[in-house]
Amino acid sequence: MELLLLLVMLTVCAASPQDLHGKMFTFPQQTNTAHVRLTTSRQDLKAVSVCLRSFTDLRRDHSLFSLATPSADNDFLIFKKAADDEFEIWAKDVMTDFGGLKYKLNTWLSICSTWDAASGLTQLWIDGKQSSRKFTSSGSNITGTMTIVLGQDQDGPGGAFDSKQSFVGMMSDVHMWDYVISPREIQNYAQVFISFTPGNVINWRELEFQTTGRVLIEEEQWSIA
Ligand SMILES: *[C@@H]1O[C@H](CO)[C@@H](O)[C@H](O)[C@H]1NC(C)=O
Repeated sequence: MELLLLLVMLTVCAASPQDLHGKMFTFPQQTNTAHVRLTTSRQDLKAVSVCLRSFTDLRRDHSLFSLATPSADNDFLIFKKAADDEFEIWAKDVMTDFGGLKYKLNTWLSICSTWDAASGLTQLWIDGKQSSRKFTSSGSNITGTMTIVLGQDQDGPGGAFDSKQSFVGMMSDVHMWDYVISPREIQNYAQVFISFTPGNVINWRELEFQTTGRVLIEEEQWSIA
């Protein structure tokens, strides 16, 4: 029994790829420690797309996806502000505000964001609804060792977390691509049961990750709308 428990724990903690299809991460309390670290060996990105599903009742600031490198804490960050429906998307440590896309509490939401170094444009999508396309930062790639964290906002690679910006709730289907995925792909992702092209940088079905603190891997719970 103890051996079994040890094996289970090792499987949960090890950084070998796992298929998390049908699973979710549960972040059950506000801390400045609990988080999931996602691993990629990529060190040079000329574009980024991130999609994830999240469920929360947080009315304060919180991070949904935090990518830091040694040169920038906010090399790519999806950040929900306390104010209703207000987001910040950061690329290359530069922030752009997005407002007015409905961020419903206590509901699973499909959240996607894209950025491209050539045009410098970022965009946010919630449940398949688009924001304006806004200029953030152009001309240079995201480069260096990438530290990707769910559940906390990094104010230094892999740490310097603030509990007041932590995520409390559930998260699933996290994917990241090294190109701007098409509106059609984003619509497919938002449909939940329609297939989409999985991430080629982060893939939920081949996820390399490590959990720290109280983060649970549980069966996904979809609520009927
Ligand atoms: C940006 O990244 C792409 C590949 O991701 C690479 O081909 C290109 O040379 C990089 N650009 C610069 C300016 O380093």
